[in-house]
Amino acid sequence: MVDSQSSKAESASQPTTLNVEETPPQEPKSTENGFLPSVSPVVNGALEVDAIEINETDSAYAGSYASYNTSLASSIKNYMYENGRRYHSYREGEYVLPNDETEQDRLDFSHHLFKMVLGGKLYAAPISPGIHRVLDVGTGTGIWAIDFADEFPSAEVIGNDLSPIQPGWVPANCHFVVDDVNSDWNYSPEEAFDFIHVRMMGGAITDWGKFLSEIYTHLNPGGWVEIAGLETIPKSDDGTGENAHAFIDWSAKVNKAAASFGKVFDIQAQAQNMINAGFVDVVDRTYKVPVGPWAKDKKAKELGRYHMVHMLDVVEPYTLGLFTRVLGWTKDECEVLMAKVRADIRNPSIHTYVDWHFICGRKPV
Ligand SMILES: C[S@@+](CC[C@H](N)C(=O)[O-])C[C@H]1O[C@@H](n2cnc3c(N)ncnc32)[C@H](O)[C@@H]1O
Repeated sequence: MVDSQSSKAESASQPTTLNVEETPPQEPKSTENGFLPSVSPVVNGALEVDAIEINETDSAYAGSYASYNTSLASSIKNYMYENGRRYHSYREGEYVLPNDETEQDRLDFSHHLFKMVLGGKLYAAPISPGIHRVLDVGTGTGIWAIDFADEFPSAEVIGNDLSPIQPGWVPANCHFVVDDVNSDWNYSPEEAFDFIHVRMMGGAITDWGKFLSEIYTHLNPGGWVEIAGLETIPKSDDGTGENAHAFIDWSAKVNKAAASFGKVFDIQAQAQNMINAGFVDVVDRTYKVPVGPWAKDKKAKELGRYHMVHMLDVVEPYTLGLFTRVLGWTKDECEVLMAKVRADIRNPSIHTYVDWHFICGRKPV
């Protein structure tokens, strides 16, 4: 891994102090109109479901910044261009979504939506204000890591990603590194984390079991992991979703292509995977987020309006790479399907929603 800002000097390592709340997560507030978060706690181990250098050999995060190699660092910015979009170059081809300005805007917008769903909060896990070391896996533009570092000035926050697309001006307690989280993790075991945050990494992880076991290894006892993400198949409670033929067909094809690519979008499975990896107090909070402003409840209507805009932005990045590289479609074929999907998403007589999950688990003390 390498510091994603080429001019960074090494960072001071903080002594690791575990400081997480022992109390179980609080019940989220419910809203009207059926848009209720369903919380699925684990009882007796059974899940009740309702619902750059790139210094490959560098094994320590702390102190590694100075050692990175300039030529390799610049190669991570030799981005790959395809079908009018820009893609990462470190471990080229490993991830199918773009990393260009358009995608970065989408990620920042989605960050806003995640906060709306959580009532303004950045996380669902019951962490304490005195938390020390935090890792944001697949940080994207780094917006979550930066906000978190601002909110917790005493914490040291690290964001990693294949793409060095994070800004240079960040809080002093926030750092970014280029890293491939599907490889063996090189963070120093002596400097374990108190909170590991994973958001929107469906379609990016090769082996969720191995990934969760790396997280487990790199958490302090009592530390929390949070995996947040969206289901890919749209649903409806009034049957109108059945008319979203293109939307449903597209979602199924996205899942099929992702599975062939070897990186599934399977957020629903991660609570059980957490339990299998040894985590306890696993809770899966699920929120029904409407696609479009069709809900009666004022908050759900506003959220639906934003969510619709986001879903319209989601269609292209989730189609082009997967459909052309994996399913062998041409760009023109993709354009035709994408236009139909967007029409379904905009159709006011179709009342779909998507389940958003926030799955948290604690490493036993
Ligand atoms: C959909 S974005 C989510 C970004 C961020 N977590 C958020 O919620 O705003 C997924 C991110 O994961 C990164 N990513 C994908 N595969 C990765 C890997 N193997 N190692 C590190 N980062 C990866 C991508 O570059 C991208 O920035």
